[in-house]
Amino acid sequence: MENTKKKHLITSALPYANGPLHIGHLAGAYLPADIYARFLRMNGEDVAFICGSDEHGAAITLRAKKEGVTPKEIVDKYNGIISKSFEEFGISFDMYHRTSAPEHHQTAQDFFKVLEEKGSFEKKTSEQYYDEKNDQFLADRYISGECPKCANPDAYGDQCEKCGSTLSPSELINPRSTISGETPVMKETSHWYLPMNQHEEWLKEYIEIGEYEGKTHHNVKEWKNHVIGQCKSWIDGGLMPRAMTRDLNWGVKVPVEGADGKVLYVWLDAPIGYITATKVWAEKNGKNWEDYWKGENSEIVHFIGKDNIVFHCIIFPILLKEHGGFNLPVNVPANEFMNLEGDKISTSKNWAVWLHEYLEEFPGKQDELKYVLTSIMPEAKDSEFTWTDYKDRINNELADILGNYLNRVIVLTLKYYDGVVPEVALQREDEEALDEALSSAQQVSESIVKYRFREALSAAMNMARIGNRQLQALEPWRLQKTDPERVKSIMLAHLQIAANITVALAPFLPNKAAQIAQALGVDNKTWTFSQEKVAKGSTIQKMDILFEKVEDETIQKQVEKLEASKTDNAAAAVEPVETRAQKEEIAFDDFMKIDMRVGTIIEAEKVKKADRLLKLLIDTGIDKRTVVSGIAQSFTPEEVIGKKVTVLLNLAPRKIKGIESQGMILMAENAEGKLSFLQPDGKHGSAAGDGVS
Ligand code: 2FM
Ligand code: ZN
Repeated sequence: MENTKKKHLITSALPYANGPLHIGHLAGAYLPADIYARFLRMNGEDVAFICGSDEHGAAITLRAKKEGVTPKEIVDKYNGIISKSFEEFGISFDMYHRTSAPEHHQTAQDFFKVLEEKGSFEKKTSEQYYDEKNDQFLADRYISGECPKCANPDAYGDQCEKCGSTLSPSELINPRSTISGETPVMKETSHWYLPMNQHEEWLKEYIEIGEYEGKTHHNVKEWKNHVIGQCKSWIDGGLMPRAMTRDLNWGVKVPVEGADGKVLYVWLDAPIGYITATKVWAEKNGKNWEDYWKGENSEIVHFIGKDNIVFHCIIFPILLKEHGGFNLPVNVPANEFMNLEGDKISTSKNWAVWLHEYLEEFPGKQDELKYVLTSIMPEAKDSEFTWTDYKDRINNELADILGNYLNRVIVLTLKYYDGVVPEVALQREDEEALDEALSSAQQVSESIVKYRFREALSAAMNMARIGNRQLQALEPWRLQKTDPERVKSIMLAHLQIAANITVALAPFLPNKAAQIAQALGVDNKTWTFSQEKVAKGSTIQKMDILFEKVEDETIQKQVEKLEASKTDNAAAAVEPVETRAQKEEIAFDDFMKIDMRVGTIIEAEKVKKADRLLKLLIDTGIDKRTVVSGIAQSFTPEEVIGKKVTVLLNLAPRKIKGIESQGMILMAENAEGKLSFLQPDGKHGSAAGDGVS
C-alpha cells in the first residue's frame, strides 16, 4: 500500500545563511509551503517537506569579509539563527539541512560528474573580469556597475536588484570590484557551461503547454501568470550558455582533475541541496528518497520568491532532465515581494521586521503574525505590511470575529449546560447555518490546492463570520429565558461549527486551532468536516483567551524602531572609500566655518537596540559633550575610553535614538572598511585652523 500512495515533495527556497530571516522571507516561500504541507498531511498524503541553509556563493563570502570572519563562521552563525526562527514559528519541515554538509558536497559532486560524463556541459576558456588587487576573478556579486537596462549604478554581475534583470558581468557599464572598488582587468579562465540555448524547445513546451517528453505533465492553468510570464520572457529573449563553475575557494569543489581553485556555481549546488536533504531525511526515516524525486506517482512543488523563478523553472529543470531519471516540478507557485511601511524590505538598510526579534518581542504570538502575513501574502502582486494593518487585522478579525465567536460558544455552553454538549436534534434553521459553514470549509480545500492561500484563509474565517452573524441574529442569551429547548439546538449547531473551524484553521494557525480543539475535546488532525464533529453528551472545557488585542503603543514602538533604523543608517553609513565619489567642491570660506578640536573620550557606552552606535562623552577642552557615533562595530566602549579624537564641534545637534548628539568625531577608514582613530597628539585645541585635519 505504502508504495502506491501519492507522494508530495514540497520544497521551500534554501535561505542564504548570511543574515537572519524577516517577514518577507516567511510570507514568500515558507508560510505558503507550510500551509500546503500541513493540509496534505491532514489529508493523509505522503509528504516530504524539505529545506535547508544555502551556505555557498558570494552572498556568504562577501558577508564573511564584511564581518571580518571566515565563511564557515558566518554560515554556522546564521544557520543557527535561521533554523531557530523556523522552529519557533513551527514551520513543519521534515528535514532542514545545510549545503555545507559533507553529504551535500558528495551529492552535488556526483550529480556534476554524471552531467560531465554525459557531455551536458561545454568547457570554454574566456576572458573574465579580474581584481588584480585581490587576485580574484569577479563573478556574480563580486562585481557591480551600472545596469544596462535601468541605469541603476549599483547593479551586480548576476542581477540588478532595482529592475530585477538577470545580468552577466560583461553587460555592466563601468564595472568595478565590490571588494576593492578597483576597475577590473580581463584575464583568461576556463569554466563548465550549461548550453541553455540547446534546451529552448522542450522548455517552451514544458512551460507554455505543460508538456514534457510528448506527454501532458501538468496543467498550465494552475501555474501563476507571473511565473509563466517571466519564463516566457527568458525563453523568448533567447537562452545563453551559463557558467556552472566559479573561481572561488568556498563551495563544492569541481570534481574533475585540473579544476583546482574552482567550485560549483551556487545555483547548481543549492537546488541539488533539495535532493541531499531528501536523501538524509529518507535514510533517517526508512524511506526511499527516489520515490519522491523519481516515482511516477509523485509531485514536486517548489515554493520560492519571484527572484528565484528562472533557477527553478529553467536552470534546475534542465539539470534534472540532463541527469535523467528525475521528475520535473509540477508547479512553482512563486510569490512576489512584500514591502514594509512603504519601502522595499532591505537587510542592509535594516528595513525589516526580523523574525528572531518578533519572537522575542511578541512571545507566543506566532499565529497572529502568520495570520496577518497569509492575509496579505503577495501571491499575484507585491503587497505591503504595515504595523497598523497588523493591529487592525488582529483586533478586528482575530479577536473580534474569531475569538469572540468561539468564546461565546464555549462560555454559553459552560453556563447553560455545565459544558455538556446538548443531546438534541438540530432544527432546520440551525442546520442550515452549519451547512453554510461547512460549504465554506469546502472552499478552503479548493483554494489551497490552487495555491490560493489568502482566499483559503478567508474562507476558513468565513466560518466564524457565518457563526457570529447567526448568533447575533438569534440571540440565544435572550431566548434562554423563554425557549431553552430552542437554545439547545442553536448551541449544538455552533459547537459543531466551532469544531469544524479547528480543522479548517489548522494549516494556517496550528497553535490556536489546537487550543480550540482541546477545549472542545475534538480531533483536528485529519481534514474531515462533519455535522457531528463534537459528540453529543461530551463535555467541553474552559478556554483561555485566544487573542489579546494589540495596543496602539505596541505598534507605535515598532514604527519608531523602524524609523530609528533610518536614522541609524544616516548616522552610520560609511561607504567604502574607493567607491565614494569626490564630493562637490567647497569654498575656502566654507571650510573656515568648521570648528574642529582635539578632545578626549572620557565615557563610552553602547546605545540600546542599535548595533552600530556608541554614546560618547568627550572632553573638548571647552566643555564636555555627548556625541553619538556609528563606530560600535569597530570598537568596544572600553577600547575608546581615553582615546584622543578630532571632534567637529559646530555641527547642528541632532537626535539619534532619542539621544542628542552634539558633534561628530572624525575617523579614518581603510580599504576593508575598518575604522581607526586619526591620531591627534597633544592637548585640546582647535584643529581646523591649524591644518591638523
Ligand atoms: O535567493 C536565495 O535566497 C537563494 N538562497 C535560494 C536558493 S533556492 C535553492 F535552489 F536552493
Ligand atoms: Zn536594472
